[in-house]
Amino acid sequence: MGRRGPLKVDLVAAARPNFMKIAPLFHVLGAQPWCSPRIVHTGQHYDANMSGAFFSDLGLPEPDVNLGVGSGTHAAQTGGVMLAYEQICLNQAPDWIVVVGDVNSTMACALVGAKQHIPTVHLEAGLRSGDRRMPEEINRIVTDALADLLWTPSPDADENLRAEGIPLERIERIGNIMLDSFELMLPKIRARQMPATLGLERAPYGIVTLHRPSNVDDCEQLGRLVDQLCRVADELALVFPVHPRTRKQLAAFALEAKLADQPGITLLEPLSYVDFMSLLVDCALAITDSGGLQEETTYLGIPCITVRDNTERPITLVEGTNRLAKAGEVGQLAFTAMAQARGDAQRPALWDGHTAERAAASLESHSRRLGFI
Ligand code: UD1
Repeated sequence: MGRRGPLKVDLVAAARPNFMKIAPLFHVLGAQPWCSPRIVHTGQHYDANMSGAFFSDLGLPEPDVNLGVGSGTHAAQTGGVMLAYEQICLNQAPDWIVVVGDVNSTMACALVGAKQHIPTVHLEAGLRSGDRRMPEEINRIVTDALADLLWTPSPDADENLRAEGIPLERIERIGNIMLDSFELMLPKIRARQMPATLGLERAPYGIVTLHRPSNVDDCEQLGRLVDQLCRVADELALVFPVHPRTRKQLAAFALEAKLADQPGITLLEPLSYVDFMSLLVDCALAITDSGGLQEETTYLGIPCITVRDNTERPITLVEGTNRLAKAGEVGQLAFTAMAQARGDAQRPALWDGHTAERAAASLESHSRRLGFI
């Protein structure tokens, strides 16, 4: 131990896709004598089934700090997190800040770290969709420009960072940490038996998730997607846990009844991590616009139709099971996927369930280099 006692490492989590990225790192860092992780929840997601259920499923304690920022416009949310996290850092500065993913809170806390000269790490760095209309793309670019250490999941991410002129010594490929959560939770996932609970165990079924503004905030686009889902559901039962943003927009565009009246579609509230993964492991097909699901389906060898024009995760197209689709193509691609036999999963290098260990080793070695320990 150095003269300063265990290093204080803030793990910042904000929204649903962040929780499964900090969980394995929290567990690995918590077991190291040189380090004391602190969970900072910005409160961007606050509903029990968007946040609390994830903490309990993933064995995470109550956050040490909750910034309680809630929903709002991009500026309100980003600014609210900055104001609140700046105070935390002024009062009890951590030795390191780890931000994950690409949500508004990720960028906000990276900005606070950079301004206060607190070494900051970005976990899941280097992903680029090339589409600056996505709020997440802006968050990724800003976060990667500011963070001192960039932990990447795949070679394309390293390449993107190099092309932006980021020095090689800041980039470290450690792999995909989402899959650590999956491996960690697999016994619970297998035991949960969600398909049986929903009466889906006898026939193939597909999973749907949609929440991107580009898909759900536009009435025509959401209408096209609803039509296509109803078409697919004539042939394949679909389970659709509905994100709060999507729930609101379906109601606003009077599209909810059409989905609810299609007998092949089961609409659910958002699910906890273990419930969702219990459905995913046995499904025949996923239709999504999520980032994480593109990776999880590749890992599991499940065909995935991603309703987007681009992806920041191209390795899932090249090495995995992912296909990009326009809204109007979803039905056709779903029928094609159903007709093909499911092959063995091809897993990209370092998507192996041991990413958190590599992250911890990296943090320890940089802490030594900086003389922190
Ligand atoms: C955010 C992230 C997105 C991520 C997604 C996962 C940004 C820019 N977007 O999008 O990258 O894929 O989380 O879910 O950071 N709401 C609730 N309860 C909640 C949270 C949100 O009802 O717990 C509703 C609110 O009405 C809110 C809306 O959902 O206005 C959108 O929430 P917000 O956090 O702004 O963005 P997401 O669409 O969830």
